[in-house]
Amino acid sequence: MSHTDGYTRFVNRPLGKHIAKTIGLPRPIPLRRHTKGDRLVAGPILVIGNTEAGDTVAEHLWAEEYDVRRDPGLKQRFAAIIVALDDVNHPEELSERVLQLGSTLRGLDPNGRVITIFRDPQSKTPADPQTSAARHGIEGFTRSLAKEMRAGSTTNGIVLGDDVTMAAPAAQASLRFLLSGRSAYVAGQFLRISSTAGVIPEDWDTPLADKIIVVTGAARGIGEAISETLSRDGATVIGVDMPAAGETLSQVMNRVGGIAVQLDITQENAGQVLLQLATERFGRLDGIVHNAGITRDKLLANMDEARWDSLIAVNISAPLRINEHFLAALGQGVVAKNLRITSLASTSGIAGNRGQTNYAAAKAGIIGMTEALAQRLATTGGSINAVAPGFIETAMTDAMPTATREVARRMNSLQQGGRPVDVAEAIAFLTSDAAAGVNGTTLRVCGQSMVGK
Ligand code: NAI
Repeated sequence: MSHTDGYTRFVNRPLGKHIAKTIGLPRPIPLRRHTKGDRLVAGPILVIGNTEAGDTVAEHLWAEEYDVRRDPGLKQRFAAIIVALDDVNHPEELSERVLQLGSTLRGLDPNGRVITIFRDPQSKTPADPQTSAARHGIEGFTRSLAKEMRAGSTTNGIVLGDDVTMAAPAAQASLRFLLSGRSAYVAGQFLRISSTAGVIPEDWDTPLADKIIVVTGAARGIGEAISETLSRDGATVIGVDMPAAGETLSQVMNRVGGIAVQLDITQENAGQVLLQLATERFGRLDGIVHNAGITRDKLLANMDEARWDSLIAVNISAPLRINEHFLAALGQGVVAKNLRITSLASTSGIAGNRGQTNYAAAKAGIIGMTEALAQRLATTGGSINAVAPGFIETAMTDAMPTATREVARRMNSLQQGGRPVDVAEAIAFLTSDAAAGVNGTTLRVCGQSMVGK
C-alpha cells in the first residue's frame, strides 16, 4: 500500500505539475499531518470579527505565543484564518466579514485552515427568522467555501450551542483539532459544542494520559492506527481482535505497550470478558472504540441470510450489547463515570451505497445508537460519538478495481484518499475529556466527499 498515491506523487513533481496545470487536472498535495510536539500551525493566524468568540480565540492563541493578527494588513500570508460570526442576526450582517475573508484567501498557505465560528442553527431557543436564516446561511457558506479550497487547505465550522462560549473546553479542543494536522482529512464539517462539559488537559500533547481504552478490531487497518494514536496521546490500549488475528494483534499491542485480547466481539459475554479483564489488570475502564467491522457486499436481490446476519451481528449488535453491559456498570467502581464511547460509522451509512444494504443498515444504526445514548452518558460526564470515514487508503480500498478506486479517491474536495491515521486522530480527539461537550455527533472524515445525503 502506498502512503501517497502515485497520481499525487506525479503531480507534485515539476513535469507532472506542469502537465496537470496546463490541462486542468486535479492537483492534490500531500496533507500536513500531526507529529507529537508539533505546534498547531506554523505561521500567522488571522482572527476576523471583533466578537466575544473572536476575542476569546485571539486571547487563547496569544497566551500560547501564536502570531495572531486581528487585521489582515497588506499581502500578508496566513497559516489559518478564523472568522467569528457568533453575533450575526441577519444574513445581511455576513457580508463585511466574509468579503474580508475572501480578500485574504490568496494569502493562505498550502495546508492552511479556515474556521468559521457561529451559534447553533438548531438552538433550543427558537431563533427569529432572520437569525435562523443567518445561522443556516453560515453553514451553507462554510460548506461551499470548503469546496473552493486548494492545496490541502480546509474549511470547517465550530457551532456553539446554547450558553456555550469559546472558553468551553470542547470549544477550545475543537479549535485546536481543526487548526492542527490532526484534522488533515476533515473538510466541510461542523463540530457542534452542546455543553460546557469537559476539562482542559494538563498537557495538550497527551490529552489521554492515564486512560484505559478498549479498541476492537485492533490487529490491522484503522484499528491499528487508532491503537497507535491513542497510545501516542497517553492512553493504555486494550486491543481486541479475532483469535485468527492473534499474532498480528500481539505485534501491534507490543508496539504500543497495550494488552492483546483474543475475543470475538459477537460472543454473548464479550462485555463481561472485557470488564473483567479491565478490572483485574487496571481496576478501571475509561472508554471503548467500536472499530471492528466487516463487509459482506451483495445486491439485496442476491443477499443471503448468512451475509446479512453476520454483518449485523458484528457491526451493530455487538456494540449495542457491549454498551449495554458497560452502561449497567457506569460509575460503579470500574467503569468511569465519564466513559467515552466512540464508534466507526461510514459515509455508506449516511448516503447509502449500492451493494451495501446490510453494511449501510448497520452503520446508520451506529449513528442512531450514538444519538440515543448521548443524553444518558452526559448525565454522569460521559459522551458518545461516531466517526464516518470516507475513502480511506487501506487493504480494502487497495483491492478495488483500479478505475473505480481512482474515481472514488478523487471525489472529494481534497482530491485524494485519507489515511487510517486521519480516522484515528478524530477518534482520539472525541475520546479526550476536553472534547466532552461534543456529544451524540457523527464526524465525517472524508475530505468533504461528494457522497452525501
Ligand atoms: P479491516 O478489515 O482492515 O479490520 C477490521 C478488524 O476487525 C480486523 O482485524 C478483524 O479481524 C476485526 N474483526 C472483525 N470481526 C471481528 C469480531 N467479530 N471480533 C473481533 N474483531 C473482529 O477493516 P478497516 O478497513 O480497518 O475498518 C475498520 C472500521 O472502519 C470498520 O468498522 C469499517 O466498517 C470502518 N470503515 C472503514 C472504511 C475504509 O475505507 N477502510 C470506510 C468507512 C468505515
